[in-house]
Amino acid sequence: MEDHRIKRVVVLGGGTAGWMSASYLGKALGPDVSITVIEAPQVGRIGVGEATVPNLHKTFFDYLGFTEEEWMRECNASFKMGIKFTNWRTPGTGEATARALGQGEDSFYHLFGLLANSDNLPISHHWTHQKLTGQTDEPFDYACYREPPVMDLNLSPRYMDGTKWTNYAWHFDANKVADFLCRFAVEKQGAIHIQDKMTGAEVDERGFITCVKTETGRVIEGDLFIDCSGFRALLINGVMREPFLDMSDHLLNDSAVATAVQHDDEAEGVEPYTGAIAMSSGWTWKIPMLGRFGTGYVFSSRFQSRDDATLEFCKMWGLDPETQPLNQIKFRVGRNRRAWVRNCVSIGLASCFLEPLESTGIYFTYAALYQLAKHFPDKRFDPILQSRFNAEIETMFDDTRDFLQAHFSFAPRNDTAFWRACKDLELADDIKEKMAMYRAGLPVNMPITDETTYYGNFDAEFRNFWNNSNYYCIFAGLDHMPEHTLPILAARPDMVDRSQAVFEGIKAKQKELIATLPSTYEYLRKLHGKTG
Ligand code: TRP
Repeated sequence: MEDHRIKRVVVLGGGTAGWMSASYLGKALGPDVSITVIEAPQVGRIGVGEATVPNLHKTFFDYLGFTEEEWMRECNASFKMGIKFTNWRTPGTGEATARALGQGEDSFYHLFGLLANSDNLPISHHWTHQKLTGQTDEPFDYACYREPPVMDLNLSPRYMDGTKWTNYAWHFDANKVADFLCRFAVEKQGAIHIQDKMTGAEVDERGFITCVKTETGRVIEGDLFIDCSGFRALLINGVMREPFLDMSDHLLNDSAVATAVQHDDEAEGVEPYTGAIAMSSGWTWKIPMLGRFGTGYVFSSRFQSRDDATLEFCKMWGLDPETQPLNQIKFRVGRNRRAWVRNCVSIGLASCFLEPLESTGIYFTYAALYQLAKHFPDKRFDPILQSRFNAEIETMFDDTRDFLQAHFSFAPRNDTAFWRACKDLELADDIKEKMAMYRAGLPVNMPITDETTYYGNFDAEFRNFWNNSNYYCIFAGLDHMPEHTLPILAARPDMVDRSQAVFEGIKAKQKELIATLPSTYEYLRKLHGKTG
C-alpha cells in the first residue's frame, strides 16, 4: 500500500506564530513527522505586550503538556479578567486617565465567561427587564458579573493557595513566549531550527511548493509549508499569489505607536485586566505585567498624523517623545482570500490581522493550528479538507471583524472626525441582524453549552466565540439598550421573581470576594518567586 503520509513540514518564520506552529504541530503530528523552522535572524519580531483569552491554557499550553505555573514563569505572565473600556462614551478628562485608569472616568468592563442563567434565560435579559421598568440603576457589568468590584480593587483571580474562582486569561511578553517555545520545540520535540533568510521557492507543475531556498544556498524541501512570515506573507501572497482581502472599509485603524512604561506595582497595584482607552483617533491598550506595562495607541492615519498621535499618546502617560523608545507600527487589516492554498497554510499575521481591541491575535494563531490538526491532509490533499479549514478561518475572522466594528459603530463618542467617520462605515448583514436581535430583546448567539464545558470543549467555544455575554457587555456597556424587554417576561412575573435570587447571589459573592482575596500584585510576586 502506498504511503501518503506527510513526513516533512516546513515553517517559514520564527516569531510567535512560527514557534507556536512548530510546537503545536510537533505534538499533534507525533515524532515521525519532521518539523523545520526557518528563522531569518535579521527580521525583527512584531510581538510586544500581548493579551490573550482564557482557552489559551487548555487549548494550547495544557495540550503541549505544560502546567500554568510553568509557562507563566517562563513568559513573565500576569492575569487578565477582562477588558476595561475607558472613555468610549464620552471624551473623559484626557491626562487624568493615565495613572488612575477608571477612577472617576467613564468606563465599563468586558468580562470573560458566560452569564448565569435563570429559567434558561441569560440574566442579561432579566437585567434589561429591570432596567427598562425602572427597577435598577446598576450598570450591566456590576449587576450581572462577580468580577467588577474585584477588578476595581486590583484583586487576584486566584487565592494564595492557588484556588481559582473565575475564568481568566493572561498578559505576557510575546517574545518570551516565542523563545520559550523555540527551546521546547528544538530540545524536547526535535524540531530543526535553521537561521537563514529565504530568497525564493520552487513550485512543481501543479503549483505546489517543493522547496524554499535561502541566502546561504540551502534548499529546504517539504511536503507542507506553513507561512508564518508575518505581514510579509512571503509564501501565501508571494509564491502562491493568493490575494489579501483588505478590510479597511470596516475598520479605520492602520497604525500604532507602542512602548513599555515602568510601573510602581507596590504603590499602585497590578491591574488584573487589559485597558482599552479611547483617544481622539483610535484607542490605547494598556497591558500590565510585573514592574511595567506595555501600551500602544492604535490610530487611523487618515485622521491623525504619526507625529500628532505620538504626542497625544506620550502626553497621556507623561512620557517625553524625544527620549522614550517608541515602536512605530503600520499594519494591514484583513485576511487572505483563502488561508490554505495547495500545500501552503498561512498562520498568524501572514494569514490575517485585526487591531488588538478584543485580544484575538494569539487566539487566531492557535485556533488555526487546532483547525489545521483537525483537517490535516495527506499527500493527496483532498480538497474538502482545505475548503472546510478555509471556511472555519473565514468565519472566525469575519465574525470578529464585525464585532470590532460594532464597538466603533455603537460608541456614543462623536467629538472628533474619527469617531464620526466610524458611524458612516457600512456593516455586514450578519452583524446588522445581530444588532437587530439585540434591540428586540432577543439573546444574540446563545451558546449551546454552559460555562462548565465552554472552556473545555474547543469546538463548542469556537462556534460560539462571540456569544450573548460578549454582545451584552459591549452593547450595554456602550449604553445601547434594547428597545423593549423580551415579551415573555412581561407575562411571567414568576420568572422575574426567580431571577432575583441569582442577582442576590452575585452581590453576596462580590462581598465575599473583596473581603477575602489577595491582591494581584501579591499573587504574582509569589508565583514569579519574588517574595520578601
Ligand atoms: N468568548 C471569548 C472568551 O471568553 C470572548 C472574548 C474574546 C473576550 N476576547 C475577550 C471576553 C476579551 C472578554 C474580554 O474568551
